[in-house]
Amino acid sequence: MRLIDLRSDTVTLPTEEMRAFMAKAEVGDDVFGEDPSVNKLQEMVADLLGKEAALFVASGTMGNEISIKILSNWGDEVIVEQESHIFNYEVGVASAFFGVQLSPIKGIKGVFTSEQVKDKIRPENIHFPRTKVICIENTHNRGGGNIFPLDEIERIKKIADKYKLKMHLDGARLFNASVATKIPLKEYSKFFDTVTICLSKGLAAPVGSVIAGDKPLIDEARRIRKMMGGGMRQAGIIAAAGIYALEHHLERLEEDHYNASLLAKSIADIKGIKIDPNDVKTNIVIFEVTDTRLSAQEVIEKLLKNGIKMLLFKEKFIRAVTHLGIEENDIRYTSMVLDKIFSG
Ligand SMILES: Cc1ncc(COP(=O)(O)O)c(C=O)c1O
Repeated sequence: MRLIDLRSDTVTLPTEEMRAFMAKAEVGDDVFGEDPSVNKLQEMVADLLGKEAALFVASGTMGNEISIKILSNWGDEVIVEQESHIFNYEVGVASAFFGVQLSPIKGIKGVFTSEQVKDKIRPENIHFPRTKVICIENTHNRGGGNIFPLDEIERIKKIADKYKLKMHLDGARLFNASVATKIPLKEYSKFFDTVTICLSKGLAAPVGSVIAGDKPLIDEARRIRKMMGGGMRQAGIIAAAGIYALEHHLERLEEDHYNASLLAKSIADIKGIKIDPNDVKTNIVIFEVTDTRLSAQEVIEKLLKNGIKMLLFKEKFIRAVTHLGIEENDIRYTSMVLDKIFSG
């Protein structure tokens, strides 16, 4: 039985065409800066985001953490959202490797305000760490793919400038935000000193992320990547997948958004499920199991027996993410199965 894997967009597999493109990639030694495919990918991302330079890194985590390192100093404090990937899923790297402390703000579906940022900024005092960086995640993973509004980012940037703080964007799914809002990527990225994008989520490349920023920052990022053992050699083989993804898989994200919205709408009326389809802005669907006869874990097990994988998000919540390889028919089948599970 073919599995419909809705656990994450990270499970997306490279297509045959992408594999063929990778096999033909021109390569060289990227630690010498001589890999033409890596260089091309970096130029493409810098160009898309309106930045001077970019650096190919192994993962989104590596991209976020190198960015934090190059924007802060030992003993500084970095403002993040409480449910963000950086705060929850990056194994405490910022403190473990780079000696900075994370200061979380409680947002609403990942979004916080400039007033909240202002309240978090430490005054100059010998006892306090120095606030140095503000991180924003857009779209927000645990916020159910929510989009951080551009006008709020602008207000936060004004505060950042006033207090001489740096800004980092965890744009693992920035392409989803841009496709959904039709706001160009550059309009988002212009407020940030560093931006990380991921190629291995909705874009379906097997590996890789890219950090973009001013050239001196990216030169420094290259040093830190080397320090972390992330200097790669003939990385053009995997960078080629990123080039292919940027050329072919950006616009199709709209399909994923359509499918996510379709899933939300078609399960919203099932007794025992709670979801507001209006909350689904991109490719992530989070619904609550309100049926007292079934736990979310049991629902996941029943789904699996029908060839569908979803993720336990919180005790009573389940997450489904649409991506390349998931078709409208899969969504119709999934909602039919959920209907059966809850009516049984
Ligand atoms: C918002 C966000 N940022 C960063 C990452 C980290 O990416 P990676 O798994 O490549 O380290 C993820 C991964 O799911 C993510 O959702």
